[in-house]
Amino acid sequence: MELRFTEEQQMMRKMVRDFAETEIQPFIEKMEAGEFPRDILKKMAELGLMGITIPEKYGGSEMDFTSYIIAIHELSKVSATIGVILSVHTSVGTNPILYFGNEEQKQKYLPKLATGEYLGAFCLTEPSAGSDAKSLKSRAEKRGDHYVVNGSKVFITNGGEADTYIVFATTDSTKGSRGVSAFIVEKDTPGLVIGKDEHKMGLHGSRTVQLTFEDMKVPAENLLGEEGEGFKIAMANLDVGRIGIAAQALGIAEAAFDYSTAYAKERVQFGKPIAAQQGIGFKLADMATAVEGSKLLVYRAANLRSSNISCGKEASMAKLFASKTAVEVSTEAIQVYGGYGYTKEYPVERLFRDAKVTEIYEGTSEIQRMVIGKHLLV
Ligand code: CAA
Repeated sequence: MELRFTEEQQMMRKMVRDFAETEIQPFIEKMEAGEFPRDILKKMAELGLMGITIPEKYGGSEMDFTSYIIAIHELSKVSATIGVILSVHTSVGTNPILYFGNEEQKQKYLPKLATGEYLGAFCLTEPSAGSDAKSLKSRAEKRGDHYVVNGSKVFITNGGEADTYIVFATTDSTKGSRGVSAFIVEKDTPGLVIGKDEHKMGLHGSRTVQLTFEDMKVPAENLLGEEGEGFKIAMANLDVGRIGIAAQALGIAEAAFDYSTAYAKERVQFGKPIAAQQGIGFKLADMATAVEGSKLLVYRAANLRSSNISCGKEASMAKLFASKTAVEVSTEAIQVYGGYGYTKEYPVERLFRDAKVTEIYEGTSEIQRMVIGKHLLV
């Protein structure tokens, strides 16, 4: 099967590739030093990248899901930080409102999110509820025209920078996952406290924070869907969100492979380029094969999603394989570069650090296997 892209999708790839090379590449050093890429996000908004799949009537670019995946893939080849900021903003920060919000909520929030005026975040994980998401402890109690939310969240991507947070809390602790509800929380909501900024191994330009809800007062009209629908909202959006992270992993792996090939053709040892020596040639062959396999799985899942065909299994397969590939290929890239690869002078060291988390967030590789396994039993 040959991967074929429409003219519109090819234009998207070219536009994002050019943008990444001219606007993002020069900013990498600042992001590595911890600077959040506000200006880059502003420029991405001008290009319509903050609302790629959002309908035009809500201010978005109304392009298909595959175009969105192309954008994440190309951005992540240059910066996995930008890839994750956009993926979280779109897949799990904006889409819950598009798919589960009422018309009033869509009118109020989507135009701001789709045009990049607002940045979105997603708050599911808690200190004692990571993979076991339904055991979350945050509580929301209805009092008149609002809910009072208490609890805490960890590892919130875009936290502290975001304008809206999709927050999951239980409204009925006797009902397990069926007692979880979802809320749209604005950044200035009283009782929303931004906590510790995590010092991460990679993705240095993206912010990851802890959040505390201290009698946080959320208007009742900000309940997303019905009470008790929250867990399904989280799962349904993660099903799709995982294709975004798979595309981010694909971008990292492809970049590591491209750098390695270029270096191996230039670097001469024992009288010839190391690429022409079997030890390195075999490595490059394995890297190329794994990248190609990831590409097929990622774009297959994206095409299913674009055609509105359910793709939970395929999304998990794409994330499982692409994230494993990103880790393996970026590790081998350092080996190809030898001692130089272990220094900060060359980009493969950053790719190696950025790759690891793709096996962890939006569901660890073990969780992807659980999801795939459940589908196989149906
Ligand atoms: N779509 C819709 N509903 C779903 C669903 C899906 N994909 N998967 C499960 N559900 C529903 C089930 O039908 C069930 O509903 P009923 O009770 O009505 O039958 C309910 O949810 C509970 O399902 P399970 O009993 O199967 O749930 P479980 O406890 O076994 O867990 C899990 C399932 C897949 C392991 C889930 O807990 C999970 O995905 N865990 C990982 C959490 C995760 O990915 N966290 C990422 C955080 S976000 C993030 O990382 C973003 C970032 O910042 C980068």
